[in-house]
Amino acid sequence: MKALVVFYSFNGNTRLIAEAVAKAVDADLLELKPIKEIAPKGFMKYFCGGRAVIMNLMPELYRYNVNIDYYDVLFIGTPVWAWSYAPPLNTFLSTSKIEDKKIALFCCHGGVKGAIFRKMKAMLGNNTFLGEADFKEPLKRNADNNVKKAVEWSKDIFKDNKL
Ligand SMILES: Cc1cc2nc3c(=O)[nH]c(=O)nc-3n(C[C@H](O)[C@H](O)[C@H](O)COP(=O)(O)O)c2cc1C
Repeated sequence: MKALVVFYSFNGNTRLIAEAVAKAVDADLLELKPIKEIAPKGFMKYFCGGRAVIMNLMPELYRYNVNIDYYDVLFIGTPVWAWSYAPPLNTFLSTSKIEDKKIALFCCHGGVKGAIFRKMKAMLGNNTFLGEADFKEPLKRNADNNVKKAVEWSKDIFKDNKL
């Protein structure tokens, strides 16, 4: 089974989890990088980032040299922005053909994840969902424990589904 971890991270939390998952299950990594970040640093990021989600913006991403078709299993991770996935995920989910994959979802948030997984699943129709996990500000709150949780979660997904 070939696995890929696809993620976006604005402040590094989701990257921490994505890298832990990739290492745990020997997956490749694809970091989505917008050519222009939608949110500035500082307090204004909440306003600009939140507005970008509500407006359903799809920021242009740097080109990546990864063929999604090649993979059987996708782990897809994002920070929660305005109770949803961040705009670079919107670009990825809206423009990629993702079908007949086994998919696990993860997110990082500040305490209110809303309906993010339901929204991601709605974008990912014809696939099989293997699991979901959320992490509260892992860089601020015991990174080691969160990395351990991510490793166990991803390994269990492989074991439970005999991948
Ligand atoms: C624009 C913006 C909107 C956010 N909205 C939410 C939210 O709705 N709920 C929540 O719990 N955290 C929210 N957060 C906090 C982030 O989800 C949280 O800090 C996460 O760990 C960041 O992940 P990252 O470091 O990978 O970017 C928001 C952060 C930003 C910048």
